[in-house]
Amino acid sequence: MSTSLPQYSSSRLYSLLFLFFRLLQVKANMFMYAGCSQEKFQPNSPFETNFNSLLSSIVTSSSHDMYNIFALGNDTSISTDSAIYGLYQCRGDQKLIDCSKCIKSAVSQVGLVCPYAYGASLQLDTCLVRYEHFNFFGKLDTSLRFRKCSRSVSNDVEFFRRRDDVLADLQRAAGFRVSTSGLVEGLAQCSGDTSASDCAYCLSDAVGKLKSLCGSAEAADVFLAQCYARYWASGYYDSSPSSNSDDVGKTVAIIVGVVAGIAVVIVLLSFCRKACY
Ligand SMILES: *[C@@H]1O[C@H](CO)[C@@H](O)[C@H](O)[C@H]1NC(C)=O
Repeated sequence: MSTSLPQYSSSRLYSLLFLFFRLLQVKANMFMYAGCSQEKFQPNSPFETNFNSLLSSIVTSSSHDMYNIFALGNDTSISTDSAIYGLYQCRGDQKLIDCSKCIKSAVSQVGLVCPYAYGASLQLDTCLVRYEHFNFFGKLDTSLRFRKCSRSVSNDVEFFRRRDDVLADLQRAAGFRVSTSGLVEGLAQCSGDTSASDCAYCLSDAVGKLKSLCGSAEAADVFLAQCYARYWASGYYDSSPSSNSDDVGKTVAIIVGVVAGIAVVIVLLSFCRKACY
């Protein structure tokens, strides 16, 4: 099984955008990762029309469903050049209203993070939006999209025993699962188009990667194309500095973020004028 990301590119520009969104993040809608196809579609093309319809269908649907798929322009009787397949998935423990907020946020970012991309995945903390030019629904895909290992590590045997309990339990998620053992918590989810057997397979792969890639980290996340698994030591996220005294810092960060974001867009536009056409 390959762990490379063949159709996804990353660039310095992308890192800047990443930073920009990190600075503007709200916890639940926190940016996790984005992957963009290298192939670009033409502005004002039929694909773009379908792309825009897809995004609005996703936003509309997210106010009454936690998950949905859409296929547009895939009618076989005409050309399928403009075909687009998209899905969104909210985290299983979210309220619909928060699902909808997260999806709105993801949809508003995807065109900025992956401009004119034929395919993109944007994962925020509590929701995913993905679209492709090909039909990917229900096709087992365990390619690694993103992993994050905490810098802090544990050398406590009890911690590892509890962590392994949590990870073993998470593999039984047929859909979504939260698990706790002692002071370790975790959650896992497969996207809604994944069969029960593919979900089990995907999660065992994700859990294997959590252990092999993140070793003794106190908190770790592994996102594969169709599923993810995460664990953390209880209190790990609460202990990150976010007290009232930090409000000034936050405001400064937001201002810096906005200025940086505008700069990035300008760079992007001038870069694109030279290189994209
Ligand atoms: C378009 O894609 C959807 C989702 O995979 C599928 O259910 C539908 O049958 C497809 N339509 C055509 C005409 O192929």
